Amino acid sequence: MNYQDEIPLAKRINPIKTITAKSFLRTGLLFLGLGVLLTLIANKSILQKTNFSDNSISSTERNEKKSLLGHLPYPEASKDELILFSPGIYVHKDIYENFKEMQFMAAQRGISLQLLSGYRSINLQREIFYENKSIRNQTAVERSRDSAPPGYSEHSTGYAIDVGDGNYPNTHFEVEFEQTPAFRWMKRFASKYHFVLSFPPNNKQGVTYEPWHWRFEGTVNALRKFEAANKITKFK
Ligand code: DAL
Ligand code: ZN
Repeated sequence: MNYQDEIPLAKRINPIKTITAKSFLRTGLLFLGLGVLLTLIANKSILQKTNFSDNSISSTERNEKKSLLGHLPYPEASKDELILFSPGIYVHKDIYENFKEMQFMAAQRGISLQLLSGYRSINLQREIFYENKSIRNQTAVERSRDSAPPGYSEHSTGYAIDVGDGNYPNTHFEVEFEQTPAFRWMKRFASKYHFVLSFPPNNKQGVTYEPWHWRFEGTVNALRKFEAANKITKFK
């Protein structure tokens, strides 16, 4: 006879009941732990969301802090992004067709849109900024009102252009350009071709009004470059 046979069956299965109670307790603790974990995760994600919104609020402030004398930093276009538009003038490839079409449509009305300047390397911008500043006996602050410091010009992206009226060359790079048929036509129709005036009168960057300087915002890549400029709430 097995010694276990001496113990009544009901008593023999009792220990099993004890095990069930323990495992019930364990399951309870497991659920409790899981609950605490989920609460922690939820709190963490709320905190992250709060941080994110804090970051997005301060991104505008950061852009303003990154600015130099009212100008925002811009990367230089790579060579393979550029295309020769006319002798000595390169532009971003994305601009080419749009500008050509705009030029063609204006020409239908007898208006001559002349491309005066496009892409400028950071080195060229350095020469323009420092040499002109020196020739004109201007301080950097004075010069920055109509010229961006190197690394801070929209022209380095290849997406910014200076436009003149081919029939009124004496107005090239002058505020009088705004009285020409070319400017009046562009003011009305340039947005059809995704060009916007970068420095309108009293612009928030504090840059002198430049009726000849337009930037292209017709691709996501271009829009990204000018995202900070479009977000500016106040400068100077
Ligand atoms: N004239 C504009 C501000 C530039 O230099 O980019
Ligand atoms: Zn310009």
